[in-house]
Amino acid sequence: MTNRNSPPHDRVAPSTDTHNPAKNSNSMWGGRFAAGPAAIMQEINASIDIDKRLWREDIAGSKAHASMLAATNIISPQDADKIHAGLDKIASEIEAEQFLFSAALEDIHMNIEARLKEIVGAPASRLHTARSRNDQVATDFRLWVRTACDSIDIAITQLMEILARKALDHHDTLMPGFTHLQTAQPITFGHHCLAYVEMLSRDRTRFQDARTRMNECPLGAAALAGTSFPIDRHHTAQSLGFNHPLANSLDAVSARDFAIEVLSAATISAMHLSRLSEEIIIWASAPFNFITLSDSFSTGSSIMPQKRNPDAAELIRAKVGHMAGAFTNLVIMMKGLPLAYAKDMQEDKATTFRAIDDFAMCLAAMSGMMADLKVNKTTMRQAAAGSHATATDLADWLVRTLNMPFRDAHHVTGTLVALADKNNCTLAELSLNDMQQIEPAMTDDIFSVLSVEASVRSRTSYGGTAPDNVQKAAQNWLTKLKVN
Ligand code: ARG
Repeated sequence: MTNRNSPPHDRVAPSTDTHNPAKNSNSMWGGRFAAGPAAIMQEINASIDIDKRLWREDIAGSKAHASMLAATNIISPQDADKIHAGLDKIASEIEAEQFLFSAALEDIHMNIEARLKEIVGAPASRLHTARSRNDQVATDFRLWVRTACDSIDIAITQLMEILARKALDHHDTLMPGFTHLQTAQPITFGHHCLAYVEMLSRDRTRFQDARTRMNECPLGAAALAGTSFPIDRHHTAQSLGFNHPLANSLDAVSARDFAIEVLSAATISAMHLSRLSEEIIIWASAPFNFITLSDSFSTGSSIMPQKRNPDAAELIRAKVGHMAGAFTNLVIMMKGLPLAYAKDMQEDKATTFRAIDDFAMCLAAMSGMMADLKVNKTTMRQAAAGSHATATDLADWLVRTLNMPFRDAHHVTGTLVALADKNNCTLAELSLNDMQQIEPAMTDDIFSVLSVEASVRSRTSYGGTAPDNVQKAAQNWLTKLKVN
């Protein structure tokens, strides 16, 4: 391997190269240039620090392209074999961290091609036949985003499994359900967990849909107009695992909606994770004390020894901004670009990589946090039982037993709640006599509906919080997640 500290265009373009007589110009495109780029031009232009991450995809794309060129007799099979062997060597060099990336060679495509030329010589110069960096980068990036979708699918599924297992363990664990963060009606913790399983399952299908839609191959669109060489785009599409080639060469090199769509799915899913984070933060706070985060997912304070901070949840809540920001970033980057390629598009990768990395980290941190957290059943039950959470059950009893119109029942119940507040007791602690002062027809059967246990048990409607429902739903999810 040559020393990459020396100007790489000298290295890849030896003085014997008659096609590139200008010493300081780029060996890949410097034929018509007499001078090299200004230092700041190189700095703003080079993307290698970011797109070196695409090396696997770039090598896969080049191998597929070389095989196709050989299959269509555009290059010889011998040249294709040499190109393949050279690309394999480059892969092992990069893997072993022995490959020196050069900013003078701008990006991953030219870094790999330049090194290929060093390794295999002349055949390397034939690789770029019927290809452009425009279709090359579009292909590499699509492959990367496609792989990201697959990893995200696995990570979301893991989190869904953890939540479904928690739901099964806590199918009858009582907690207050909230609206406006005011105690509303009793629910089970398992039911709450399964609400997130539902959201995540929709998130998962958003990524799956995006993956299906993006699985078309840009390679062979060349710069923008296609090529006069008799290439076989179906050949390359197939060898890279795409369903088929993109049908329009202009669209092939200029479309980035596949990445935008995945960032939109990531934003929506991160928003769900953020809502769960917010709840974890509330539940773990001392006044609530509904849950205890494990030591592995808590941090301490440097001044207040009693503190156990839910930092991971807070960071997940904050990081949704990176996904939403990346989505907005790409939309704004693309919205004014005429067809086909423009260098603006080079900026798509840094923002996408960061957002997807952060999203993957959020999923993993949420899985760890949820798997470890301890549910404080007694506190949760007390919170549910102590705040008139069964007032709706009382109103429903008046409707069912006394045939009272619901609006009237609501009014009677409101009066009873005020009385309980005045007596500083729960609804169940009011005497029948107290109640009959307000509604004489009430009987002691009312006490059968006022406990939080009875309340959740009665919520048997489809999708309701009854423990039997929750148990079945959790079991169904666990079975489904194992199968898929
Ligand atoms: N590094 C470029 C990118 O990421 C590759 C494509 C360059 N194409 C060009 N016509 N300059 O977009």
